[in-house]
Amino acid sequence: MAQIPSSQSALSWTIVGKGAIGLLAACRLTLANYPIGLWLRQPLAVYSQFKGQQFRFTPAVTPLNAVLIPVKSYAVIDAIKGLLPFLTSNAQLVISHNGMGTISQILPLLQPDQGLWFLTTTHGALKQGVNLFHTGNGQSVLAPLNTAAKQQSSVVHRAMDDALGPVITTENIEPFLWQKLAVNAVINPLTAIHNCSNGALAEARFQPLLDALVLEVCQIASAEGVVLEPTQIQQNVRQVIRNTAENYSSMQQDIVHQRRTEINAINGFIVQQARHYGITVPHNENLLQQVLELENRPYGR
Ligand code: PAF
Repeated sequence: MAQIPSSQSALSWTIVGKGAIGLLAACRLTLANYPIGLWLRQPLAVYSQFKGQQFRFTPAVTPLNAVLIPVKSYAVIDAIKGLLPFLTSNAQLVISHNGMGTISQILPLLQPDQGLWFLTTTHGALKQGVNLFHTGNGQSVLAPLNTAAKQQSSVVHRAMDDALGPVITTENIEPFLWQKLAVNAVINPLTAIHNCSNGALAEARFQPLLDALVLEVCQIASAEGVVLEPTQIQQNVRQVIRNTAENYSSMQQDIVHQRRTEINAINGFIVQQARHYGITVPHNENLLQQVLELENRPYGR
């Protein structure tokens, strides 16, 4: 095994959960010679088959100094509360989820030297048994969210570049979060409702709704002081649909497997902010209701 450069070995990465994106990061980091541990409810080894290679991940050894937390928006606060007693006083935490509304709740939980980052990614991954597929080749944007994170910039950037790169770093995550929110507000509920792959949304019949949804997101972003160019965001959504055409979105998968979805942090967040500003967002409202109904269905689709 190749020697790990000292800047990489200074942080020993732990991945929370065994979701597809987390395991993709774990496999890619292992291939780049980082030692990886998993943080799971049941501390057991996890096996993955990725690109013809077998990976075995063992439970993380505490204390933890670098943690990637690619868990759902509704689970991230509890995940971090569970990690807190096991973190070093200068640990670096990278959260990565769809939707908005968690950062302001996490920052006050951390000690002054503990860094918090947000990583937003358009990579797609799918887990089928032990097999892990990289179904959408995307990219990621990484932002330090506090001073302690800014002090560790290059080390965390390099690791995330190996995990879910190519990564660009920004000091201001807001516009990127809104762009990603637009992507998720279109792709996730539509693929869940129509039970289709992301690529199916390239069909002509979805285009007017795609444009209308993005317009509503841009209106709310603008009310929050983030200026987005609707035409550019619509193009970006279409680009992600093309790049991840074979992928089944996380929300489509959640509905198929009768799991809770992130709808409240995506279209639900847009509807909530719209109410706050007295703006109407009928298309987002409609998709929110449809997904909530699917989520509450007892059996089957
Ligand atoms: O949630 C997802 O599935 C992903 O964020 C994305 C980019 C829509 C790809 O499927």
